[in-house]
Amino acid sequence: MGTSWLTGYLLFSLSTAVIGSLQFGYNTGVINAPEQVPFFNDTWMERYKEPISQGVCTIVWSITVAIFSVGGMVGSFSVGVMADRFGRRRSMFLVNSLAAISGLLMGFSTMCSSYEMVIAGRLVIGLFCGLFTGLTPMYVGEVSPTPLRGAFGTLHQLGVVVGILIAQIFGLEVLLGSAKLWPLLLALTVAPAVLQCILLPFCPESPRFLLINLKQEEQARKALVRLRGTEDVSKDLQEMKEESAKMALEKKVTIPELFRSAAYRQPLLIAIMLQLSQQLSGINAVFYYSTGIFDSAGVKQPIYATIGAGVVNTIFTVVSLFLVEKAGRRSLHLLGLGGMAVSALIMTVSLLMKHIPAMSYMAITAVMLFVAMFEMGPGPIPWFIVAELFSQGPRPAAMAVAGCCNWTANFLVGIILVFISFFSLCPLIFIYRILFGFFLTFGYLMFCFDPI
Ligand code: GLC
Repeated sequence: MGTSWLTGYLLFSLSTAVIGSLQFGYNTGVINAPEQVPFFNDTWMERYKEPISQGVCTIVWSITVAIFSVGGMVGSFSVGVMADRFGRRRSMFLVNSLAAISGLLMGFSTMCSSYEMVIAGRLVIGLFCGLFTGLTPMYVGEVSPTPLRGAFGTLHQLGVVVGILIAQIFGLEVLLGSAKLWPLLLALTVAPAVLQCILLPFCPESPRFLLINLKQEEQARKALVRLRGTEDVSKDLQEMKEESAKMALEKKVTIPELFRSAAYRQPLLIAIMLQLSQQLSGINAVFYYSTGIFDSAGVKQPIYATIGAGVVNTIFTVVSLFLVEKAGRRSLHLLGLGGMAVSALIMTVSLLMKHIPAMSYMAITAVMLFVAMFEMGPGPIPWFIVAELFSQGPRPAAMAVAGCCNWTANFLVGIILVFISFFSLCPLIFIYRILFGFFLTFGYLMFCFDPI
């Protein structure tokens, strides 16, 4: 990795932006904490003087989990408009107000005996996360020097996995995962939002946005000088000017135009397929429900296995950060998807043979391998590749479409999983993975994906 571009100011700006990714991970992982459901029962008892039925409880809980992705769909779809109107930095600043609203709603839910407040809070934080899954990769891609764009692009995913791990640890019953403290666990999302708002004014606006969108060449130059730590930023500026000149020939690209224009068809299909392959691989089955999966495989202390999965997840994201510029996006992505399919097969065998005690170890190993393979490629690559595949003009629209596909698939997988577990159709999970998670997306990417 070339170190000449690695200035402290660049790292500071990247770390500040990645706080948004951390929030996304935190709010994905936090829902795995075990002690939240009794609250639904207690509130129901208080209101209707009878215990909540198993069916209603499952439905209310599933809505609480899934509404996060609905917010994500709407948020990610709005990212293009927002990023172009307010700029990248100001958008990040403004969006943090959503985290504050959501944290308050969820934090005061038990005090107000209202599970509706938890559901509303999850919707709002989903909106926040949807916006950040576009804003962070966009900002990171635009401030990073071209030779390190892939490695830095992985930072978004690193933020996500660290966020998941923090949520898993804080979610332990001895910490904040207890029946009494879990509203605090959910409300904690306000803290990183405040921190990011304090730090953002010290970060530069994206030089690409300044030069290409606002035509402020001098401001862009100043931002680049600070980011690169040298007065000689002519190469970067030249490259941006060329892109700007190219853009002047194109019209501003809206989402319908993105679909109509033949020039964008191939990169758009690649971007969408990558997002679908990420979500349809079923990864969030692990992050939403891993404790339950380990429990049913006969693991004695499932929560610690969940944390183990979080640690493996983090380690392999770092591995990918160092490999991505050398091994290439295509090989890593395909390797990851292939490895996930093999581990899903091992996982299914171990669940089917769980009467043999040693199988619980095999199930743990399979889940770890599944997660590790995911982070080699399918985890980080789809998020940053969209910024790489598209130039400044169509980039925001493309990020919106890709992000929305990701969140829609995330939502659908969540719903399918609830359906499967509700009707005890577990073998279907494997059939689902084979059909969608593997052949559909792997097959497409194998033949159509242009290496970058
Ligand atoms: C990716 C996915 C997200 C998932 C996470 C797990 O960021 O987009 O849905 O929870 O990876 O590490």
